[in-house]
Amino acid sequence: MNDLRQRFQDAGQGHVFRFWSDLSPGSKEVLLAQASQIDLDLVALHKGLLASGHSDGDDTQFTPPALFPARPVGNQVKEAEKAKARGTQLLKEGKVGYLLVAGGQGSRLGFDGPKGMFPVGPVTDISLFAWHAARLKAAAARHNSAARWFVMTSATNDTATRTFFGEQDHFGLPADQVHFFSQAMVPALDLEGRIMMAQKDQVFLAPNGHGGTLHALATSGLLRLAMDEGIETLSYFQVDNPLARPACPLFLGLHSLASAGMSSKVVAKTDPHEKVGVLGTANGKLSCIEYSDLPAESRDARDDNGDLVFRAGNIAVHALQTEFVDRLTRDGFDLPWHLARKKMQVMGEGGQTESQPGVKFETFIFDALAKSKTSVTLEVQRELEFSPVKNAEGGDSPATCRKSLTTMFGGWLEHADLPTPERGADGTVRLEIDPGFAEDEIEFLERLPATPEDLGGGSLYR
Ligand code: UD1
Repeated sequence: MNDLRQRFQDAGQGHVFRFWSDLSPGSKEVLLAQASQIDLDLVALHKGLLASGHSDGDDTQFTPPALFPARPVGNQVKEAEKAKARGTQLLKEGKVGYLLVAGGQGSRLGFDGPKGMFPVGPVTDISLFAWHAARLKAAAARHNSAARWFVMTSATNDTATRTFFGEQDHFGLPADQVHFFSQAMVPALDLEGRIMMAQKDQVFLAPNGHGGTLHALATSGLLRLAMDEGIETLSYFQVDNPLARPACPLFLGLHSLASAGMSSKVVAKTDPHEKVGVLGTANGKLSCIEYSDLPAESRDARDDNGDLVFRAGNIAVHALQTEFVDRLTRDGFDLPWHLARKKMQVMGEGGQTESQPGVKFETFIFDALAKSKTSVTLEVQRELEFSPVKNAEGGDSPATCRKSLTTMFGGWLEHADLPTPERGADGTVRLEIDPGFAEDEIEFLERLPATPEDLGGGSLYR
């Protein structure tokens, strides 16, 4: 114990133990156990970044990436067909595993619990987790293979997530095919670089960002398991977007044909002021450039067609080769750290809880793009693949997400010459097509019974 306290003292973090003499034996054990897990070298690195006022990895020269367009033309049509066939083959051969990141705290949504438990079905109110599970289950049935699913949680929501999956019987997926792992947590610092405390016996820890997925996957042993099971590609998606299509043959196929280590899906950014990151190269390295880092002239630049030059809006859907992840994590590769200045509920000087400004440190998955020798950036249609639930109200909220789902499903019905439901008393249409019934409009039309009367007493058509 003395040794540990001395090391904190030497690192300028001795205040972590300042209430030591007030603590019960149980609390002392809690604090010691937690403190012994803290990497003080990493804290020192974070303190240095904070003092220098920069994120590790700040860059200045930007260029847009080559895009495979949402509507292929010329040779791209053939290329897309070939890619779909390759992707379908990979799915059939069980070479694709699914990687969901659900470790974030969802504080902007103001939902008390893992974000994946948030009800998103416009009619059924099924949760985001259930929605994704239905899609994966349907993909497994479509390709006659298994849905091997790797779900990343964090210490803040791991138990609640596992319990929810258990209560819901893993949404009908075989329990041994759903694997949970937890990302690491790192101390948040105050503006002077001192570790913040949550309580007298607890350091204030925060998830280390979705870049932590790669290390956590490796250290949990699940990367090895995936590789041993013949999984070559991990299809990565975020819990907040029910329109994500993790079993997309086109994307998986393009990624595979290009022998890429990591690839991305993007949507066209049309408003230069839309606050999304865009994919692009920064000083020659492919990554996602945050809205605030893009100089105004690049942000507003348009090409000959009048489209934004930097329009590759990041939707956080990636394909990653397991071998690529293995190589990155085996070599001790570290992603750059990004600083997020926020107000946090922490312990004040006197031991009371109060709101204080501080800094959280995160790594981002898209910074791994720089390590991939080749990479595909596929543009997809926003209205079909991206409508996240992030904020309680306004843009990217439950209301906009339900509207996107209803609008998309409404289009399917219209094209099938089926009537759309009437507006409810609140003026909105509530419509949901079981995500397990069809992945997209093509499959919906294929699977539709010959006549609306054959729709099984309304069980498919609510
Ligand atoms: C992120 C992207 C943004 C992109 C948008 C698309 C960053 C910095 N920006 O923004 O470029 O346009 O998604 O939706 O990522 N998560 C973890 N662990 C963490 C942090 C996050 O698992 O430590 C998960 C969350 O559960 C969530 C996802 O990552 O599923 C996104 O995190 P969030 O912080 O909401 O990203 P955004 O800032 O919205």
